[in-house]
Amino acid sequence: MTTNNPLMPLMATIVETVRETANIKTFRVRLDDEAAMRDFTFLPGQVGQLSLFGVGESTFVINSSPTRMDYLQFSILKTGEVTAALHRLKTGDRIGVRAPLGNWFPVELLKGKDILFVGGGIGMAPLRTLLIYMLDNRNDFGKITLLYGGRSPGDMAFQEDLKEWAARQDMDMVLTIDNPADGWAHEVGLIPNVLKEMKPTPENCIAVTCGPPIMIKFTVMALQELGFPDESIITTLERRMKCGVGLCGRCNIGGKYVCVDGPVFSWAELKDLPQEL
Ligand SMILES: Cc1cc2nc3c(=O)[nH]c(=O)nc-3n(C[C@H](O)[C@H](O)[C@H](O)COP(=O)(O)OP(=O)(O)OC[C@H]3O[C@@H](n4cnc5c(N)ncnc54)[C@H](O)[C@@H]3O)c2cc1C
Ligand code: FES
Repeated sequence: MTTNNPLMPLMATIVETVRETANIKTFRVRLDDEAAMRDFTFLPGQVGQLSLFGVGESTFVINSSPTRMDYLQFSILKTGEVTAALHRLKTGDRIGVRAPLGNWFPVELLKGKDILFVGGGIGMAPLRTLLIYMLDNRNDFGKITLLYGGRSPGDMAFQEDLKEWAARQDMDMVLTIDNPADGWAHEVGLIPNVLKEMKPTPENCIAVTCGPPIMIKFTVMALQELGFPDESIITTLERRMKCGVGLCGRCNIGGKYVCVDGPVFSWAELKDLPQEL
């Protein structure tokens, strides 16, 4: 932590916002304390608690990469009171940040492996941080493939990234939407179905997936059908968090706390837990 009290937020200022979709907005923030910002470290997959005084606090993955520390990026899907209030913020506004919290993708274990990313909707956020980290350390990893889906073209977030990734020769990208739409030149179909058609090979490959619970469930089933063992499937889970540091007991699944044992889990760890998603 960048403060001695993990429950005490540090103040940060929004330096840029990006409108991703009708209901997803990205915020780039810098901690106000320049020394804290300079010393801030995290690993892909870790989250932050963002707070607005008088409104509340909510959990969001840090979706910028530790290889690019000009700012910390959070992308927020508007669902309720806190996220709606966050969406009203603009450049120059200040928020509270408690970060980094939680565990991270096992980047050392992923070295030398092919990586298959499968993201749906705002679930692309945790994948974005790991993908950029890998592209910035490209020689450490094998083949990189991204399958990203949204309900419609207007639901595809991270458009700047998608353009950049489409132009790269050192990764493959497949985009899909649920139903045909005018002007859409990519795949049409639900993510798990498109995944099965892609037939990725499970040998020396790790699949990393995140999205709505129903998408994760069918994506994991598709990966299993394709021969991926449970140990080679990694996902990140959303559970309502309060303290974020293992004190309040609000985020448990079975005997695990998502805030400290997760949010990153392998399917081998999750499959025997009750209500895992
Ligand atoms: C580890 C982790 C990482 C997350 N990363 C992101 C992210 O990068 N971007 C993002 O937009 N959201 C992320 N979330 C979800 C985000 O925390 C919730 O959407 C947010 O707390 C909703 O707050 P609210 O007050 O606006 O909604 P509320 O008014 O509290 O709830 C609105 C609706 O959303 C549901 N909901 C609220 N919180 C959660 C939750 N934590 N998980 C599942 N459903 C919830 C409620 O059941 C309700 O249906 C993450 C959650 C966790 C635990
Ligand atoms: S959020 Fe408090 S124990 Fe996990």
